[in-house]
Amino acid sequence: MSQNTELREQVRLRYAQAAAAVAGGTRNADLLAEETPPSYCCTSPSGAGAAGASGESARGATAERAFGAGLYDEAATAGLPLDAVEASLGCGNPTAVAELHEGDRVLDLGSGGGIDVLLSAERVGPTGFAYGVDMTEEMLELAEANRASAGAENVEFLRGAIEDVPLPDESVDVVISNCVINLSTDKPAVLAEMFRVLTPGGRIGISDVVAEDLLGPEQRAERGSYVGCIAGALSRTEYLDGLAAAGFADASVEFTHEVVGGMHAAIIRAVKPVR
Ligand SMILES: C[S@@+](CC[C@H](N)C(=O)[O-])C[C@H]1O[C@@H](n2cnc3c(N)ncnc32)[C@H](O)[C@@H]1O
Repeated sequence: MSQNTELREQVRLRYAQAAAAVAGGTRNADLLAEETPPSYCCTSPSGAGAAGASGESARGATAERAFGAGLYDEAATAGLPLDAVEASLGCGNPTAVAELHEGDRVLDLGSGGGIDVLLSAERVGPTGFAYGVDMTEEMLELAEANRASAGAENVEFLRGAIEDVPLPDESVDVVISNCVINLSTDKPAVLAEMFRVLTPGGRIGISDVVAEDLLGPEQRAERGSYVGCIAGALSRTEYLDGLAAAGFADASVEFTHEVVGGMHAAIIRAVKPVR
């Protein structure tokens, strides 16, 4: 097995476990608190999160504030099934930054338990549509159960890799993603796929972990695991260069809160130029 195939399998297994735990009644915030060191997105490997808390007892509470469901406005998630909210393993709230409009077609890369797809579906209304793509069967089952429980009809969860999206060219207006691109072993392919599926003038609104430019790959790996969304993170310049190489314009990477020394949750925005 190549190193990349092995890494991807580790990621799939880890998030299959997370989905099974939520389906079995465990809140992801409790998963975050249990692990030493934590190995889910997006926990702080040291146990010290954005707010600077430290020590075992503080980890769960800090993780809950800095990651997952704690990053969403309670009013926004009030109408969603509890399992969708509690399955959240993101590092931001891309639906809050992506400027979704009525009638938009939205794609969420690495949709997990479906929280951002269901929120997007509400925002784009019955004339719009929200797709989620995920490679982990257990996450897709959880997401579909959450969709059914929410009664959302303008939603579809697709099994697939974010490096090879199972949608046609120019089929969506907005691509979102929450703490997933850092997990990909082929990031140029993911950026190229985002560009391919977007209509001209389409936009991306992504939350991800991003390293400060001064940290090389080894220093990122010292700070946390690959499956924990740290070791595989791009630096800010790598992100901007990758988006430009894929063809995007007006790209920006805005740090929102530090996850671990020199590495931040960030909002990434860019536009596919109109020809
Ligand atoms: C950290 S979780 C985030 C889930 C969701 N976005 C959220 O905010 O709760 C990462 C998700 O991405 C999926 N994933 C990771 N790498 C992937 C890939 N290369 N292709 C498709 N899905 C992937 C995992 O199965 C998992 O559901």
